[in-house]
Amino acid sequence: METKILDVREMTEETLRRAQALCEPEAMAAVDAAMEKIREAAAVLRQGGLVAFPTETVYGLGADAFNADAAARIYEAKGRPSDNPMIVHIARASDLSRLTTKLTPDIVRLADEYWPGPLTMILSKREEIPARTTGGLSTVGVRLPDSPVAIELIRLAGMPVAAPSANLSGSPSPTKAEHVIADLSGRVDVILAGPDSSIGIESTVVDMTVDPPQVLRPGVITADDLSQTLGRPVAADIAPASESAAPRAPGMKYRHYAPKAEMIVIEGSQTLVRAEISRLKLLNEQIGRHVGIMLFEERAYTEAAHDFYSMLRDMDESGVDLILAGALAADDGLGFAVMNRMMKAAGYQIVRV
Ligand code: TXA
Ligand code: MG
Repeated sequence: METKILDVREMTEETLRRAQALCEPEAMAAVDAAMEKIREAAAVLRQGGLVAFPTETVYGLGADAFNADAAARIYEAKGRPSDNPMIVHIARASDLSRLTTKLTPDIVRLADEYWPGPLTMILSKREEIPARTTGGLSTVGVRLPDSPVAIELIRLAGMPVAAPSANLSGSPSPTKAEHVIADLSGRVDVILAGPDSSIGIESTVVDMTVDPPQVLRPGVITADDLSQTLGRPVAADIAPASESAAPRAPGMKYRHYAPKAEMIVIEGSQTLVRAEISRLKLLNEQIGRHVGIMLFEERAYTEAAHDFYSMLRDMDESGVDLILAGALAADDGLGFAVMNRMMKAAGYQIVRV
């Protein structure tokens, strides 16, 4: 299959603001050009094709959520097990009623507060949504992404868009267009090559069909944030370091975040962690292993989230055999969310110093 790569890098909130609020001719021309390409991609979605597109969390691989054949094609392109449910993306909150019949005040409150943004809500699904899209579940995960390219694409397609992360199954989630091009060229119809994902880790997934609501996958928006908005308890996800607790979001059971290299997480005070990393690096280099180091500044959670997947890919590309990673403090919500991915990538190998 030939993949069409359409450059929409110019389509940012900043360019949109300059075009719409300030009417700058250059920005207006850039937006027009990008809209033309997004329109082309939307037409591909309407015909049952596959389109990869940027979002603020990670890139998604989209198809018409109501078209079972199109949804099946996503699994094929990703090489993904077909029991894995997909998140359905919408362009405005009012589209929720196309996906669920049970809208509660809590759901509406969270949509008001956090959309567009990195929050996926699990809701009981309408019958019309094919089993292919939801992995046979009676529920559907819904999100309204905070990305102008994504929103325009979904709006112009005129349908909710099912989209898992746009990586090959088993490789790190893509946060840059080049990651998607590397993984999916020749496997999808269109790649909308837009800006890098500003957040860098996937959305928080919260199950709204249980009482109290339960976070199934941690992200930038924490269980505490949700609980404050709702004025009632929201159950947090399991600790990032525990392998035993069975994940309830089916996708969490696969080794999604694994680099090709072996990875070890080192946890402890900054000084001890740095010393242990140096020691292990030397030891491993002496036996001819190529060692990569992943260390973030203390409390630099935003950068850690932004760079995490990209660093994994870079290390794989440069032929690293062993990644030594400094743990982040999991008492911070975003730190906890990054640690969740880091522990998975490391297959739960951890050294405490
Ligand atoms: O940020 C994101 O959420 C990105 C962008 C593209 O929106 N998408 C993403 O999709 O991360 P994916 O397929 O890689 O991860 C979806 C997660 C999986 O862990 C899946 O099991 C869970 O959400 N999920 C989806 N629908 C579900 C459902 N009905 N019930 C329980 N978990 C569900
Ligand atoms: Mg994924």
